[in-house]
Amino acid sequence: MNEYPVVSEHVKKVLAGNNNGHGYDHANRVVKNVKLICEEVECNQKIAIIAAYVHDLIDRKVAVDIEVATTELEQFLVNQAGLSQGEAEQVIEICQTISYSKGLTLNSIEAKVVQDADRLDALGAVGIARTIEYSSSVSRPVYIKGDYSDDTAIGHFHTKLYRLPELMNFGVSKQLAVEKAKFMELFEAHYIKENE
Ligand code: ADP
Ligand code: NI
Repeated sequence: MNEYPVVSEHVKKVLAGNNNGHGYDHANRVVKNVKLICEEVECNQKIAIIAAYVHDLIDRKVAVDIEVATTELEQFLVNQAGLSQGEAEQVIEICQTISYSKGLTLNSIEAKVVQDADRLDALGAVGIARTIEYSSSVSRPVYIKGDYSDDTAIGHFHTKLYRLPELMNFGVSKQLAVEKAKFMELFEAHYIKENE
């Protein structure tokens, strides 16, 4: 069920044409993951779901000017999505703090839920596809024998993605993450074997 059609339509429009793994389909899966986690974890679901939809709108991989994008997002949330100023600020704080690369400590349970939901979408079959999509958007190959740096997609599995299961905030997400990471290891083993 889509409880926030004004938000989802806006995100669909802004992320249209994204080709580096941060498209509308990603936002939708993060929302789905939030709902899954919320079956086990109690939090303000309205804030977590809306933050899941919009979380990449002010990310450096999506926004041209982060400051402008942040102001626009806040205005959208208050004027069009009907959030209070306080709610909009909560949503924006989540978007600004959950990124892996920033390595920040999270203050709210909602931020932890959205962080796990976002990270789950970096793993599994979808995670493999997104990583390859991102790598090709910056002209990097899938695999170079013996190279486990960020210069290849499979290298990125090692520099970041295989670490995610142990970084999950909740047991429910950790369990899902472990399964998804196992599938990636199997993919990696097959990929390397087929290239021997
Ligand atoms: P975060 O918001 O947690 O910092 P990013 O937006 O940097 O995460 O990355 C999200 C997804 O984009 C990754 O899970 C991966 O699929 C892809 N990605 C990011 N950086 C790289 C990279 N150096 N090589 C390949 N894929 C990447
Ligand atoms: Ni994301």
